[in-house]
Amino acid sequence: MKYVEKRGKEYIPSKKGKQISLAEKNVYQQANKPILFWEKLAKKGIDWIKPFTKTYEQKGNSFSWFKDGQLNLCYNAVDRNLGNPDTPAIIFIPENPKEKKQVISYFELYKKVNQAAALLKKEGIQKGDVVAIYMPPISEALIFMLACARIGAIHSIVFSAFSPDALRTRIKDGKAKLLITSNYYYRKGIKVNLIKNAKKACRRIKIKKIIIDRAKTGQFFKENKFEIIKPEPMNAEDIAFILYTSGTTGKPKGVMHAVGGYTVQAYWSCRYIFNLKRNETMWCTADIGWITGHTYACYGPLLNNATTILYEGFPIYPKEDRFMKIIKQNKVNVFYTAPTALRLFAMKDQGYTKKYNLDSLKVLGTVGEPIDQATWNWFFKKVGRSRCPLIDTYWQTETGSAMLTSLAGHGPFIPSYAGKPFPGVTYAVINNKSKKLKANKEGLLVQLPPFCPSLIRGVWNDKKRYGGYFLNGTYLAGDNCFYDSKGNFRILGRSDDIIKVAGHRMSTAEIENAITSLPKVVEAAIVGKPDKIRGAVPVAFIKVKRKISKEKILDIVSKKIGPIAKPAEIYFVNDIPKTRSGKMMRRILKSLLQGEEIKNTTTMINPKSIQEIQEILKKK
Ligand code: PRX
Repeated sequence: MKYVEKRGKEYIPSKKGKQISLAEKNVYQQANKPILFWEKLAKKGIDWIKPFTKTYEQKGNSFSWFKDGQLNLCYNAVDRNLGNPDTPAIIFIPENPKEKKQVISYFELYKKVNQAAALLKKEGIQKGDVVAIYMPPISEALIFMLACARIGAIHSIVFSAFSPDALRTRIKDGKAKLLITSNYYYRKGIKVNLIKNAKKACRRIKIKKIIIDRAKTGQFFKENKFEIIKPEPMNAEDIAFILYTSGTTGKPKGVMHAVGGYTVQAYWSCRYIFNLKRNETMWCTADIGWITGHTYACYGPLLNNATTILYEGFPIYPKEDRFMKIIKQNKVNVFYTAPTALRLFAMKDQGYTKKYNLDSLKVLGTVGEPIDQATWNWFFKKVGRSRCPLIDTYWQTETGSAMLTSLAGHGPFIPSYAGKPFPGVTYAVINNKSKKLKANKEGLLVQLPPFCPSLIRGVWNDKKRYGGYFLNGTYLAGDNCFYDSKGNFRILGRSDDIIKVAGHRMSTAEIENAITSLPKVVEAAIVGKPDKIRGAVPVAFIKVKRKISKEKILDIVSKKIGPIAKPAEIYFVNDIPKTRSGKMMRRILKSLLQGEEIKNTTTMINPKSIQEIQEILKKK
């Protein structure tokens, strides 16, 4: 079935593509009055324990949606789908192809979530308590997320490839009462010892633990008998979960999401963007440690009574065609992944893509970093067989769901453009004086009020940092951007010192802090350098007191953050370019790495450092 057709340089939905659209033909007109629009969607899509009467309120940076309503996220994702008890809710695919996959039906999920909720209660967890989850993408990760939501506990998931130090910081900042982890998992065929990291992270911290045996995943709750734990009535503005992400300082921030707004927008965005219907299968390859995993590998598909696929391991293990096998064997309808994974698949393409029947696919999506034209075209043609809409979704941990995106049944699908704001969401591009810019002018991306339901409500323990997101009444995304004459937005990259490494959000300050914690180091500057596969990689410029090996630098970054943050290149320099006020000039380092000529050095205190670095780079 062909769902798209070509129109000039872009693609639009074909007649069939429009026919099957779950977003109404006039959805953008409906959204002209965003508050009314969301009010209707919230009533139509979500089951409320107590209906709301107050839709939206705002005072400065503080805003609320559906404030006096009560609901439960787990109830909406699990219990209300019990009319379809045998539909698979979760399909867990182990990395080792010889290990059997696991299929958990909605009824099974209901049972296990109740058992998990009972266990949480037995451990003394109550509404409002923080539960840290440090787990690979196995079924129990989702089961415990839902169990937390059921009893009103706040989950705080920490990416399983983060180091013990990174986990410890997040446990401490969140004041987590319980840690749920698993003993090991597989990655690239290697057994990763997770429990060792978890134990290290918890040294001298009083915290209870639940440990899942990876060998028995899916069987952790094997009893048939279970007690029904009543879904906790949650106020719409209660916190659903926190998720730590990198900011521009060294300290990660716990982004807080509200139950009501998040549930409403996770449900509708999944439905309208991906056209995901009940009983259909979505494979979002993001790890549950990131926001994409939260919204489109767990809550979004389950709220829509669809099937979600969880794959444990490396995307091209044991071979490059693994992802195609998974799509074919599980009849995946929606495949959502990151440009980094796609570049890896494309690089290995010597014809393997032709071998598989991928007729089940209806929609393709990407997220996390800009997608270049070549990768877009490869994905569209080789995986989508030029018949599926390819949706580039731009969003952030802070926005909770996709913001700039096309909708499967509406289009247009334009390589390297993310698309229009989701219906009911308003974005603009401003200059540094907060003046709104016209089409085709580059500037800073901002969201305008009314802020969307799934937008961040606070930074855990840090009111001041939350305030930093807002500028003259707008939410500042931190990205450079422009939009074309038809209102399609194109993201140009971050406007701050955050880099996206293989789609993972890294703070340059966090990596710098890790390196400068070594006594022999005086200072360090991290900048992102374009990389063919990973989008960008960190490169370190380091000034030392005494000689130190590169291994020591790599080790400390692995220890403090995790292997994903390790610099790809390390340069020891005598001086780091600085402004007269002593600020490191990462912009200059970036240009030097790209071999660009540095013209204006008037604001610098140490222009000589440029020549020195140029010589070091030449020797490489
Ligand atoms: O710079 C943008 C980039 O990823 C940042 C958000 O990262 P994170 O909070 O980890 O969430 C990623 C997954 C939702 C953004 O500020 N980004 C995200 N999606 C895109 C993107 N850049 C370009 N195109 C995208 N589709």
